[in-house]
Amino acid sequence: MVSESIEQIIKERRTVRAVSDQSVSIEDIQALLEVASYAPFHSKEEPWSVVIVAGQDERRLFVEKIMDSYERLNIWARYDQQHLAASKKRTEEYYLSVPVTLIVTAPVHEKRKANLEAISAVSAFIQNFQLAAWSRNVGVTWRTVPIIFDDVFKQELGIGSDRQIIGLLDISMIDEIVKLPTAKRKAVEQWAVRLSEKLSENKE
Ligand SMILES: Cc1cc2nc3c(=O)[nH]c(=O)nc-3n(C[C@H](O)[C@H](O)[C@H](O)COP(=O)(O)O)c2cc1C
Repeated sequence: MVSESIEQIIKERRTVRAVSDQSVSIEDIQALLEVASYAPFHSKEEPWSVVIVAGQDERRLFVEKIMDSYERLNIWARYDQQHLAASKKRTEEYYLSVPVTLIVTAPVHEKRKANLEAISAVSAFIQNFQLAAWSRNVGVTWRTVPIIFDDVFKQELGIGSDRQIIGLLDISMIDEIVKLPTAKRKAVEQWAVRLSEKLSENKE
């Protein structure tokens, strides 16, 4: 896949939720992070920061914090109470099975413009990461589960109140056998419009 054009990679990339038994090396993750860091940014320093969760000990600790946060936020109240134990088990098992998770953060700025720029740059960084990962057969799921807004969860993971989590990136190698859906997107004409047309639409 490495020789593919950037357009092909952008169009082919899919969120990969299936978890593989193949291991993902920290060296590969670091190489992908280095590529991702060529994202544009509009601040004095690059705004992204990443906590890497890898290996059994870190994984266990991380999942413990996740499950505590689910309880703290009362997330289970939304689930079918009759099958709650099974849902909890499935969730815990899923999180335990992910080989590597990246906690990607941006600084929090009180000023709206600076905050938008930080979130935007970190989102560009994440997409760079996803594209570079895809080209190396590494799958990513960008997650914005409710726990990312839990201040206690953040604090327990060493993330200060001056930073916001932009995503948890669950990472796994892509097994050959995984069938991924073909991407569908709306036609450009449905969401891109000339200003003159937009203004005349509004007048009607
Ligand atoms: C900001 C953002 C947050 C997302 N959060 C989640 C999430 O919490 N759980 C999940 O399964 N997928 C999440 N996704 C993945 C999207 O569901 C996925 O990108 C979308 O369905 C389009 O599929 P594709 O990535 O294969 O093109 C997120 C994507 C983005 C950009």
